[in-house]
Amino acid sequence: MSKSSVRFVCQNCGADYPKWMGRCASCGEWNTLTEERISRVSPKQNGWTVSPARKPVPITDVASAAEERFSTGIAELDRVLGGGIVPGSLGLLGGEPGVGKSTLLMQAAANTAAVCGPVLYVSGEESLGQLKLRAQRLDLLTERLIVLSESDVETIGEHLASLKPKLAIIDSIQTMYMPDLGSAPGSVGQVREAAAYFLRLAKSLGVSIVLVGHVTKGGALAGPKVLEHAVDYVLYFEGGHDHSVRIVRAVKNRFGSTNEVGVFAMTGRGLAQVDNPSGLFLAERPVNSSGSVVVPCLEGTRPLLVEIQALVAPTPFSGTPRRQATGVDYQRFSIILAVLEKRQGYHLQTQDVFVNVAGGFRLTEPGVDLGIACAIASSHRNQIIPSDFAVIGEVGLSGEIRAVNHIDLRLRELSKLGFTRAVIPAGSEQVDSDLKVIRVKTVSEALQSVFSESARGG
Ligand code: TYD
Ligand code: MG
Repeated sequence: MSKSSVRFVCQNCGADYPKWMGRCASCGEWNTLTEERISRVSPKQNGWTVSPARKPVPITDVASAAEERFSTGIAELDRVLGGGIVPGSLGLLGGEPGVGKSTLLMQAAANTAAVCGPVLYVSGEESLGQLKLRAQRLDLLTERLIVLSESDVETIGEHLASLKPKLAIIDSIQTMYMPDLGSAPGSVGQVREAAAYFLRLAKSLGVSIVLVGHVTKGGALAGPKVLEHAVDYVLYFEGGHDHSVRIVRAVKNRFGSTNEVGVFAMTGRGLAQVDNPSGLFLAERPVNSSGSVVVPCLEGTRPLLVEIQALVAPTPFSGTPRRQATGVDYQRFSIILAVLEKRQGYHLQTQDVFVNVAGGFRLTEPGVDLGIACAIASSHRNQIIPSDFAVIGEVGLSGEIRAVNHIDLRLRELSKLGFTRAVIPAGSEQVDSDLKVIRVKTVSEALQSVFSESARGG
């Protein structure tokens, strides 16, 4: 049914070549090409595509696709997806082993099955017995959840074509193989061809398919980047063994925004949605300790209060000072250190500086800059920032504070959680708030207000 040929595939980027080369011409890495069989299936050969020849048409004549989605029954997941799963879409859920991918998708599968009819859960990693144990533990036993322990892609395709479920879960793409190719499951060629096969199945059968993808230690998806290009949306499941908080984040979404996050907690009975993540992130906040400040950041449309912690301590011996930033962007952290040294006259050259976001959360917006600066300043000066204080603002190279969006949402979340004072950029829009709002133009003004207020016993 399909023609296959031997190609040399780069295990780093997935590019393939007719002959071996020492260096991949696409990504520039050395010694990454390995020999693999690749099948080139033309759409007409795969047996499912029967679409008529397509003609170019004016965009105004195109019938609007109805915005049709179905819910996974998990509101936090629906939000990240942009309001639910689009029929016929192919998605990818990536994450480190043990983070809870199978658990989350089994919960989503059972919920969808209850509302929309049969859902197929295919596992190439676990036996049917193991799947049943998990479903029992999660209390999700339903006849409409059809399970299959299989890793041959074409066999799965046949089952999908005859069952025509609304949703199918493939756990995981790295265990799937196309017998034609001859290379081992998980190799670049296998992952790419299997994903392309599932894409054709999703589009031609109208089945929504979610692929599970394992992530390597470095955080990259094991397998080629092309996997991310092939799918309609890519979600990452973050968190880990040491944190009970798990976060689902969209990094690509053809049907919605990529800013949304969903927050979960792993419990003895599966993943529970966290309705008040700010409260959870702040639960273990130390009181009256220097080097800690709360930032009202915005993930998508949802404000989240997170604690930024810093520790500034003398560098032992005459070594190079250490710089470590966890949960914030390292480049921005470096800029903020330089601003504090140059504009505030802090001597940090002889100090180790560590910054951490409590709860294992990863902050991506520049609005958290001022929080990083205040936390470092607080630890360096050994002065406490009062616990009812929050700060927000982007820091520029000359120490100016730039405005952030949606200041109203951020202030509302702060007052909901009992904060009474906030330092915000001077250029922010006017808002009504029951908080005491202090508008600042520079880092130095911001530091003055957080520390003078603290001196007055806040
Ligand atoms: P799992 O979903 O298998 O992770 P992944 O598919 O991403 O590898 O489960 C991850 C961990 O969660 C596992 O170590 C056991 C734990 N767990 C719970 O704590 N509670 C539960 O109800 C379930 C099903 C799993
Ligand atoms: Mg799993």
